[in-house]
Amino acid sequence: MSAMLEVVGLDTCYGRTQVLWDIGFSVAEGRTVALIGSNGAGKTTVLNTICGILRPRKGQVIFEGKPITDIPAHHLVGMGLVQVPEGRELFSRMTVMENLELAAYARRDGAVDKDIRGVLERFPVLGKRRLQISGTLSGGEQQMLAIARGLIARPRLLLLDEPSWGLAPMVIDAVFDTIKAIQAEGTTILLVEQNATQALAVADEAYVLEHGRIVLGGTAESVAMNDEVTRVYLGGFNPRGQ
Ligand SMILES: Nc1ncnc2c1ncn2[C@@H]1O[C@H](COP(=O)(O)OP(=O)(O)OP(=O)(O)O)[C@@H](O)[C@H]1O
Ligand SMILES: [Mg+2]
Repeated sequence: MSAMLEVVGLDTCYGRTQVLWDIGFSVAEGRTVALIGSNGAGKTTVLNTICGILRPRKGQVIFEGKPITDIPAHHLVGMGLVQVPEGRELFSRMTVMENLELAAYARRDGAVDKDIRGVLERFPVLGKRRLQISGTLSGGEQQMLAIARGLIARPRLLLLDEPSWGLAPMVIDAVFDTIKAIQAEGTTILLVEQNATQALAVADEAYVLEHGRIVLGGTAESVAMNDEVTRVYLGGFNPRGQ
C-alpha cells in the first residue's frame, strides 16, 4: 500500500534559526500516526510545514502521490489535507453555528447543510449550544468545535495538534473517544501530542521528536515499550500494557 502522506528530509527554519532537521516519515491510508515530543521539540512546526503554512528549506511533502511543498495551505484544505490547529483558533466572538458555516464556506457542493447537521448530531453538546458565542464555551467544548470544523472540510488526512491541551482528564477521554470514532470511519490521522500515554494508545505507528529531529519510530507498541520513552514520556507506565 502506498503512503497517503510522505515526508522526506524536511529542514525548516524560522528566519535563520533552523528548528527541524531531516524529518522523514510516512502515513499510510486509514492509519493513525502519532508524533510525540516535549515542549518546543518542533511538533507544530512539522504540521505547519506539511500543511503549507511554512515552507521547508529542504525536503518534500508528498500527499496522495503529489508533491505539495509549493501549494498554499488553503488549496490543500480543498484536497483533503485539513489541520485542527494547536490552541483551537476558533472565531471566538462568533457563534458555534457561524464557526461551522465559515468552515463550510470553501466548499462548493450542495451537501454542506447536511454535513453541518451531521456534526451537530455527532457532538450533541454543540447542537445544544449552536447559538452560543464560541469564546464562552468550555475548553472541551471548544476542542469539539475545532474538530467539528475540521470534519466539515471532509478531510482525507486530518492533522490534530495537541487536542488534549489544557483539558481535564475526563474531557481528554471524551476527545480521544471522538478521535477513535473518526479513525473507525477510515479517516487517516496524524496526531501530535505531548500526552504520549493517550496518543500511543490510539496510534498504529509513532515517531518521537526531540530538538527538531526524529529519534525513534516504529509501531506504537514498539515505541511504547522503549525504555527511554517509558521513562521520559510515559512516567514509567506503558499504556498498551505489554
Ligand atoms: N514563529 C516562530 N519564530 C521563531 N521560532 C519559533 C516560531 N515558532 C516556533 N519557534 C521555535 O521553534 C521550536 C519548535 O517549536 P514548535 O512550536 O514547533 O514546538 P512544539 O513541539 O509544537 O511545542 P509545544 O509542545 O510547546 O507546542 C521552538 O524552539 C520554538 O521556540
Ligand atoms: Mg506545538
